[in-house]
Amino acid sequence: MFHKIFDLPIYQSPVAAHGETKNSVMNEIMRLRQDPRCYQPTGNERVYSDYMIADDPSTRTYKNMVIESVKPNIEEFAHEMGAKKIDFGQIWFQRYETHSFHGVHNHWPSLFSAVYYLEFDPKEHKPTAFVNPNKLQVALYKEHNLKFSNTFSPDGNQGDLLFFPSFLDHYAPMNVSDKPRTIISFNFDLSA
Ligand SMILES: [Fe+2]
Repeated sequence: MFHKIFDLPIYQSPVAAHGETKNSVMNEIMRLRQDPRCYQPTGNERVYSDYMIADDPSTRTYKNMVIESVKPNIEEFAHEMGAKKIDFGQIWFQRYETHSFHGVHNHWPSLFSAVYYLEFDPKEHKPTAFVNPNKLQVALYKEHNLKFSNTFSPDGNQGDLLFFPSFLDHYAPMNVSDKPRTIISFNFDLSA
């Protein structure tokens, strides 16, 4: 028997109200895309995002709608985790146009984080990739040419929502398609 221990809770489920949510939220994102503060290129990371101005009330107009739409999903996740209380933190969008990506990062010190695939074509786009946090194990196994996985990319579909521990390193692979890939991300805490 193979015991694979110390699981990481990564939870994926479709957002039931995705159709209506996408149209309204995308209108808002396309408005924000014109805001020069939402385009801050650093190296190759050409991505539109309101992350840096997420405290500005004018950028938060989509927050309530997203929170309302993801409520059933997050309540299910909270139940699985034995939690009753959900506290939402920062929320922002990331719009990856051609040749943009997001390098390895994490959302610590939040407890949990989410990626909601607002515009995503599985034939054209790659999903979020998670990096194995057992860095010592990875380094040693690599040295000995053993079988191991350094990254995990759960298949994604438009309208899917992913929850994951905020400390977990992850990245958005480069979008090599002409079609934009747009996600909403947010952080949240759970408690019993
Ligand atoms: Fe992230």
